[in-house]
Amino acid sequence: MSKLQQIAIDGPAGAGKSTIARLLARQLGYLYVDTGAMYRAVTLKVLKQGLDPGDEKEIADMLTETEVDLIPATEGLRVILDGEDVSDAIRTPQVSQAVSQVARIPAVREKLTIWQRALGEKWPVVMDGRDIGTVVLPEAEHKFFLTASLEERARRRYLELKSKGYTQSFESLLEEMALRDKMDSGREIAPLKPAEDAQIIDTTGMTIEEVVNELLKRLGGNT
Ligand code: CDP
Ligand code: CDP
Repeated sequence: MSKLQQIAIDGPAGAGKSTIARLLARQLGYLYVDTGAMYRAVTLKVLKQGLDPGDEKEIADMLTETEVDLIPATEGLRVILDGEDVSDAIRTPQVSQAVSQVARIPAVREKLTIWQRALGEKWPVVMDGRDIGTVVLPEAEHKFFLTASLEERARRRYLELKSKGYTQSFESLLEEMALRDKMDSGREIAPLKPAEDAQIIDTTGMTIEEVVNELLKRLGGNT
């Protein structure tokens, strides 16, 4: 049996990973896997249960009775946490502020990495996150690291949240994203960094369509 196609997309917050990965997957007919949504779903449960996002022991126990599923839908993915659709609830500023702390916990990374690899072994995937090219799918044929200036990334996320009715100020959002990038890059296990064989693309000033076309061009006929 020929090896399944795997496309890994990593990068900092607001770089456009989810948007680009989703469109690319649709174009190629691959499964789109948003690994950040999985970390967000676990974080939502931590907050709902009133646990401390830094409490490794309590969170490891909680994970033994936690299930996260990603269901492909017309508009992206639906995220299901223990049977409940939490697709919108995982995008709140509260979850964004706590997620990097939860994502540092070894038991959390271990469990989610196993789920993510299983999807990559079963289907052709476009998977986005922070450690896809380095840890989750190190054998992926195609690895991209998308980035953009912090100001542009914060501006993109600000406009997105505003359109959904959230009122976080631009300054506090920029600060939160910078802190999250710092925590994600500085953690011991699976830090945010480009894989050695990743193609790095600075998307500052590029539209969504331009980035998708650039990736398709770089993939050439190799999919
Ligand atoms: O969309 P945004 O870039 O804001 O974040 P996300 O992709 O939804 O990921 C949320 C958080 O989950 C990140 O800031 C990381 O702390 C964590 N994460 C991770 O540690 N490893 C991944 N593969 C994906 C996300
Ligand atoms: O997943 P990640 O945090 O890397 O970014 P995203 O959630 O895909 O994109 C954040 C916001 O920026 C979304 O509202 C996208 O529509 C927008 N975006 C953009 O305006 N231009 C791009 N080149 C990429 C994304």
